Amino acid sequence: MSFEVKKICCIGAGYVGGPTMSVVAHQCPDIEVTIVDVNSDRIAAWNNPDLSQLPVYEPGLDIIVEEARGRNLFFSTDVSRAIAEADMIFISVNTPTKNYGKGKGMAADLKFIELCARQIAEVATSDKIVVEKSTLPVRTAAALKSILDNTGNGVNFHILSNPEFLAEGTAITDLLSPDRVLIGGENADAIEALVNIYARWVDRAKILTTNLWSSELSKLTANAFLAQRVSSINAISELCEKTGANVDEVAKAIGMDSRIGPKFLKASVGFGGSCFQKDILNLVYIARSYNLHEVADYWDQVIIMNEHQKRRFADNIIQTLYNTVSGKKIAVLGWAFKKDTNDTRESASIYVSDYLMNEQAQIAVYDPKVVTERIYADLDYLNTRSVDENRAQLEVWKDPYEACKDAHAIAILTEWDEFKDYDWERIKENMKRPSFVFDGRKLLDRQKLESLGFTYYAIGE
Ligand code: UDX
Ligand code: UDX
Ligand code: ADP
Repeated sequence: MSFEVKKICCIGAGYVGGPTMSVVAHQCPDIEVTIVDVNSDRIAAWNNPDLSQLPVYEPGLDIIVEEARGRNLFFSTDVSRAIAEADMIFISVNTPTKNYGKGKGMAADLKFIELCARQIAEVATSDKIVVEKSTLPVRTAAALKSILDNTGNGVNFHILSNPEFLAEGTAITDLLSPDRVLIGGENADAIEALVNIYARWVDRAKILTTNLWSSELSKLTANAFLAQRVSSINAISELCEKTGANVDEVAKAIGMDSRIGPKFLKASVGFGGSCFQKDILNLVYIARSYNLHEVADYWDQVIIMNEHQKRRFADNIIQTLYNTVSGKKIAVLGWAFKKDTNDTRESASIYVSDYLMNEQAQIAVYDPKVVTERIYADLDYLNTRSVDENRAQLEVWKDPYEACKDAHAIAILTEWDEFKDYDWERIKENMKRPSFVFDGRKLLDRQKLESLGFTYYAIGE
């Protein structure tokens, strides 16, 4: 039996669901796509006529939404109705690392997924294809299927795994021309139904179909490998600083080996984002649960290295500023976990700032896309100090020159392009002397900064 998909529902209007389903709607004008979320503020923002106010900042997303919204793309809080009407349901809710109970700090919290499954089971009165889009631990599909089949109204559910490989900041181009699309499943017709959707704009040779478990595990593995490259080059960056090698030169030299390749070799203050750490912790947790301790320890080291990189960046600032930052103003340029996104989850900035604040530094933050409330919420979530203390010790500026005024040091923590074009001479004039720049992204030109009189530190040099 073949499936005809006329209506799609996506549960979860976040960084994954929002852009992904907007692109599906954009590419398939004859399919009605409804993205639902329990967060009514988020849905209101997706429906805002002012496209600069969409809840997710992604280059090119506004144009895609503008074309499809109201035509065949809808954002709604009516979750049940969208489920009932859909032929295919994508689950794109968040799966954060558990912060309580068994597996705390390691395992993925699947409570949002389970709630979705129960709601789908309750509401569905016709057969549905249910697609896992969120990153999930291996064998989640089995749990999903069990809930659907045991609590449903006797209709058929076909589960597919279709992991998302988009990177934030380049989500739209990644979605429009993906390296590959991965679809795991058991039912050939259900798989074909999803293949047919992607095949409207993706070459069929790039649409890979596997069994469910391979698909789920591939997502975790892909992120673990990417993160591993960053931790590997970051490990070498520390060695470069001791030996006089330059990490960019090393990265270039190894990257030209076609077996290694040039991408994901940029040394940094540490990787962030919602996926890398969570997925590796997940992989480690799963390995341990099967008593595979060597496997678990191997991947755990990627996280350990990343923690170390953030900590040693902050330590270097303290040490260089004559072993104390107490009462000193330090400007943090960039709060997002990478450029071209307003997402701050697991951003190195949060941890570096928190660490410097423990040493009583006064932090002044500027980020071109992250809102002030988000910055404070990120700090408050750490629970290191009171809400009032966080506001007293950290200020957020809308103007980078104000953030840097009278600062003892500037820390560059996100690689926003605009930082390169600032009037660094003007910044220098208004800073304390000596004027330090700690470049956690190797973004600026050493020669230029030094000629202006800055003392310039970059990772891996
Ligand atoms: C290696 C480097 O590749 C080469 O650039 C350097 O100059 C010397 O060291 P070599 O040891 O000759 O070369 O062989 P290589 O092809 O790298 O394989 C090394 C080992 O890894 C072999 O035992 C090979 O079987 C194994 N291997 C390689 C795998 O198990 N899986 C792979 O995917 C690749
Ligand atoms: C990642 C995966 O790339 C994507 O395929 C998956 O679907 C979700 O997780 P994302 O987290 O959006 O995407 O961004 P990514 O570009 O992978 O960067 C992750 C972090 O690593 C960022 O903090 C980035 O600054 C850092 N990074 C990346 C480096 O420090 N150096 C590099 O060379 C590459
Ligand atoms: P991701 O990066 O995985 O997209 P986000 O946190 O940005 O994660 O988005 C996930 C969205 O899923 C949030 O907006 C959240 O409100 C929504 N969500 C979580 N659980 C449910 C649910 N049971 N029904 C509808 N929406 C949900």
